Amino acid sequence: MDPVGRRPLGTHAGMRGGRLNPLQALDNSVHVYLDDRPVSAWLGQAACLSAADLLRSSAYRRLGDRDDYLAGRVFLRTVLGRYLSCRPQDVPFASAATGSKPMLKDNTLSFNLSRAGSYRLIALTRGREVGADIETRRDARAERTLGALPYDLALDDRERSAFDRLTEEEAKDAFLNVWTRKEAVIKATGLGLGYLPPTSFHVGCTAALPADGTFRLAAPPVGVAGSWQLYVASLPGTQATLAVALRGRPCTVPHLETNLLPC
Ligand SMILES: CC(C)(COP(=O)(O)OP(=O)(O)OC[C@H]1O[C@@H](n2cnc3c(N)ncnc32)[C@H](O)[C@@H]1OP(=O)(O)O)[C@@H](O)C(=O)NCCC(=O)NCCS
Repeated sequence: MDPVGRRPLGTHAGMRGGRLNPLQALDNSVHVYLDDRPVSAWLGQAACLSAADLLRSSAYRRLGDRDDYLAGRVFLRTVLGRYLSCRPQDVPFASAATGSKPMLKDNTLSFNLSRAGSYRLIALTRGREVGADIETRRDARAERTLGALPYDLALDDRERSAFDRLTEEEAKDAFLNVWTRKEAVIKATGLGLGYLPPTSFHVGCTAALPADGTFRLAAPPVGVAGSWQLYVASLPGTQATLAVALRGRPCTVPHLETNLLPC
């Protein structure tokens, strides 16, 4: 994967030069947007949020958690609006029960959002399922969650025996990698952690990434067959790790582009 670039939103290579419209550019690739703008920058555009967005936000007890959710929602509407050529408030989300994967009414494109600490990540593609996950060791929430998670609930047998050969410090990093990859796969299926146990499939625990950041899933989840691809990256200087899982027609574009919006 390319190092993180600092390009403004909407300048993915596939969208430049007028060769492809934004949707066509997704047919053969996955576009990834990574954002670390302050929450307040997105809340300033909160007028685009729907009544359903606001209702859902009221379930958060902590003000900070609520604002993080709302900022993610504005970011998501903004990015999707660019691809669908509509205003953020007009993005046609299908109505979804809490805990189910957000989608568009007509499935024009597939997308998935992840939030960790000050980061928001969106992956978009077309004609295949996509799941995205970002975790950072600096994120207290992630530390708590990951720290509390017994390896036995996350690793399959092969991953477990590989972990047993690592030092404690190596294991922490490797666990962050495995967990991010597994969550991306689970999120692509939309099944949720409760229905697709992370122990039921294999993503490998090697911390080293392939040169282009991609690899194929060795053992796809039971019951969720098909062709899988997994893109992974560690973001220099951030201690953040991200993964994007794709299920369906393979992408021939061999790398992700990551746009970090300037603050
Ligand atoms: C989906 C799930 C894996 C998200 O995990 P997470 O690391 O806390 O959150 P992330 O920041 O990576 O992703 C959250 C985003 O994923 C999306 N999402 C929500 N449910 C999803 C699902 N079932 N599949 C895919 N994506 C989903 C939403 O856009 C959500 O953003 P929001 O919180 O701003 O609405 C997890 O919450 C889950 O499994 N939920 C389903 C319910 C379930 O099975 N619970 C049992 C837990 S044991």
